Amino acid sequence: MTEPDHDGVDLDRPNAVRMYDYYLGGTGNWAMDRALGDRVLAEVPVAPLIGRANLEFLERVVRFCVRNGIDQFLDVGSGGPAVGTVHRIADSLDPASRCVYVDREQVAVAHGQLLLEREGDPERHAIVRADQRDPDAVWRAALGTGVLDRTRPIALIFCAALHFIPNDEPADEIVAGYRKRLPAGSYLAISHATYDDLDVPADYAASIRAAFELYERSGTPAFSRRYDEIASFFGDFEMVEPGVVWLPQWRLDEAPSPVTQKFVARPSISIGWCGVGRKP
Ligand SMILES: C[S@@+](CC[C@H](N)C(=O)[O-])C[C@H]1O[C@@H](n2cnc3c(N)ncnc32)[C@H](O)[C@@H]1O
Repeated sequence: MTEPDHDGVDLDRPNAVRMYDYYLGGTGNWAMDRALGDRVLAEVPVAPLIGRANLEFLERVVRFCVRNGIDQFLDVGSGGPAVGTVHRIADSLDPASRCVYVDREQVAVAHGQLLLEREGDPERHAIVRADQRDPDAVWRAALGTGVLDRTRPIALIFCAALHFIPNDEPADEIVAGYRKRLPAGSYLAISHATYDDLDVPADYAASIRAAFELYERSGTPAFSRRYDEIASFFGDFEMVEPGVVWLPQWRLDEAPSPVTQKFVARPSISIGWCGVGRKP
């Protein structure tokens, strides 16, 4: 096994974004990702549905933001973005919309560059490599693309990304660093995995903990946080109704998908808290 590179990323271990791609039936994953992914799936066979519930939240967020006048997106921890494709959803509603993707993982960023070369507009779409734990670096890299206008509202998205910040690092301070940089009228959208607060049968809760432990073998261990910790990421932002809720509960303004219907009776099976806040 090689040492991680200077950004703490190594290519010799399974990676969360490629495992996520595997659960969702994508092709951007390697044998080692599938091997660890299979062990997670053995513990949590609904992992692909959890991934879908997260993606559907992301899609609803983008539609909500465009409907509320947002035309610029900053998607941090975006992955490729072969899976969560903010620019496609935004473009379908507003062809002048702009989107910058940020991820730390070099393969995801390289794939994202290829994807945007094929289907993006360089004036309106970009992907940069940066570490979400450094708001200043992310901000500089994102604005450095020339795609975003820092004087107008931006939707900043952390979808299934902040749970990769270790519990012993100041996640609250990090997210505050982004909140203070956003212009007034901007939105902050977050989804975050948890094994706390779950209202599920004991054997499912144990499997979720086991899955978190399996991620410790990857280059991207994940860290659970409680409802209060996730709600505090929004600081003094005004929460969009219905506040911080489980993934299948956030603004089901469209006909509920089969995934959402599966989780509706016990939404915490989705193991993801989510919410959207607006900067006053
Ligand atoms: C589970 S994927 C989520 C992808 C997409 N946001 C979605 O919800 O569909 C998590 C992503 O966060 C990225 N990530 C993890 N730690 C990061 C960090 N410190 N800085 C930037 N990206 C990070 C991973 O590389 C991965 O692409």
